[in-house]
Amino acid sequence: DGADRPPPAGRGVHAPGRAAIPARQLRTDRWWVPRTATLVGLLAFIGYSTWRAFAGSHYYAAPYVSPFYSPCLAENCERMRGGADWGLFGSWWRLSPALIVLIFPLGFRLTCYYYRKAYYRAFWASPPACAVAEPHAGYTGETRFPLILQNVHRYFFYVAIPVASVLTYDVALGFRDPRGQWGHMGLGSLVLLVNVALIWAYTLSCHSCRHLVGGRLRHFSRHPVRYRLWSWVSRLNARHMLLAWLSLASVGIADLYVYLLAAGAFSDPRFF
Ligand code: FES
Repeated sequence: DGADRPPPAGRGVHAPGRAAIPARQLRTDRWWVPRTATLVGLLAFIGYSTWRAFAGSHYYAAPYVSPFYSPCLAENCERMRGGADWGLFGSWWRLSPALIVLIFPLGFRLTCYYYRKAYYRAFWASPPACAVAEPHAGYTGETRFPLILQNVHRYFFYVAIPVASVLTYDVALGFRDPRGQWGHMGLGSLVLLVNVALIWAYTLSCHSCRHLVGGRLRHFSRHPVRYRLWSWVSRLNARHMLLAWLSLASVGIADLYVYLLAAGAFSDPRFF
């Protein structure tokens, strides 16, 4: 574990000009618990989502489609048979259709301000926690390649909006029965509904969203609508970490639910 190794003498936190603190860190609480929980949570999601993304099967159990596979952009997407979405990738695309789509939510989360903090700490011990010295000899932050690319986050945010909109459309389709008649509601309809609500809450709580609606203004008093939007987004933004985890869990659960239905593990309980 990198956090257990001291930084090299004369480098990092031992560089000349830094306060000479002999102890490796002065925290007396269990600072490693959040870091370990983050590590386990992220690894579990990475393992599960990689398996499901490459599987290319069991992602459509009419009328539900897994959020990992939506929007269906390839002709080999199972839901394309129902005429939904766009066949932008023709028959030449033989891999799992999820691989085309997942780049966008993956990029959005990978460059997210919260996840950056989470995985810098969990995987790189940079730093392992607040007020715990990192073991690295140098620190350039996000000023150089490749981490300077984290600045593209706002563009992933722009793409996250249409992706969340398509998932919302999927939720609407989940209220039709497998024959296409409206008025159906199964447990799957609710699972997808809760998931999309959490995805929207996470997306709208994004720091880039907050800047987009309320940034670069001199006077809020002259922009009451933007001020109101900024107030709402700010309230969500204060819960960004919580929403990041809840939406990550819900998207995995929604996919797992569709997978189990498609694999015939059980039938969708239907309310009407
Ligand atoms: Fe987390 Fe934008 S800062 S999604």
